[in-house]
Amino acid sequence: MERLIVDNAAACQAPLPAFADDPRPIGVFDSGIGGLTVAAALRRRLPAETLLYLGDLARLPYGTKEARTVTRYALNAAAFFVSRGVKMMVLACNTASAHAVEVVRRHHPGLAVLGVIDAGAERAAAQSPGGRIVVAATEGTCRSGAFQRAIAGRRPPATVTAVPCPMFVALVEEGLTEGPIAEAMARQYLLHHFRGEHAADCLVLGCTHFPLLAPTLRKVLGPAPQLVLSADAGADQAARTLAATAAAASGDGAIHLFATDAADRFAAVAGRFFPALGERPAVEVVDL
Ligand code: DGL
Repeated sequence: MERLIVDNAAACQAPLPAFADDPRPIGVFDSGIGGLTVAAALRRRLPAETLLYLGDLARLPYGTKEARTVTRYALNAAAFFVSRGVKMMVLACNTASAHAVEVVRRHHPGLAVLGVIDAGAERAAAQSPGGRIVVAATEGTCRSGAFQRAIAGRRPPATVTAVPCPMFVALVEEGLTEGPIAEAMARQYLLHHFRGEHAADCLVLGCTHFPLLAPTLRKVLGPAPQLVLSADAGADQAARTLAATAAAASGDGAIHLFATDAADRFAAVAGRFFPALGERPAVEVVDL
């Protein structure tokens, strides 16, 4: 098969050429289980694509680490996917997208590399009624300014407040997405941004773990704010990119799971996302 040449810089705007009838898998990567929200959304949109999901549970969380560390981890993941012959890598982690998407593209010019930040920012810029946007994300994503820049570029008058919510990652990894602890954390981190005269009107879930907290966030914040899931927006973008090139139905529809540690724990959660794989799907443990 011919080597795929992709202009990654244009990947967000333009359909990619040369994917047609390309049965190679799509690699989906996150620090842990959060990226399963993206993989599940991708599966719904592209049921025949083969997906490889890699959770770097050995090095979770990414959100509290330095940019250069997360970049190194993302490059390790990219090398793994390249060794498994993927046609596209989705950084299903906002923190890795914020720090590393450009570097991964530079290192792998023949690989389509998509992050989840631009797609989430685009949706927030379009859907926020009054342009008062709160981005809930990891410390690293907030510090990087990636969402603030991406939203400002699309809707300059918007005010963007990035709120680090590190405990949300732990709650999701522990399966504590509902109940008094999750609600208390949601109130503490976010409620005051959605009250009063200058209340925000849009909440971006800028971490792929956070969609699992969406019912709790809705309960705590009420029906008013728009909820934007960067995980969902990122999956949409990947699906559009592939569908536009007629490659959407070329794989065998399988999903293969890989983790750098804690395979049993990961398998239990993955089984809930992909019931067709059974309660404890097979997980291959890999070293990056
Ligand atoms: N799911 C990841 C994200 O979207 C980060 C979680 C972590 O801190 O590892 O940012």
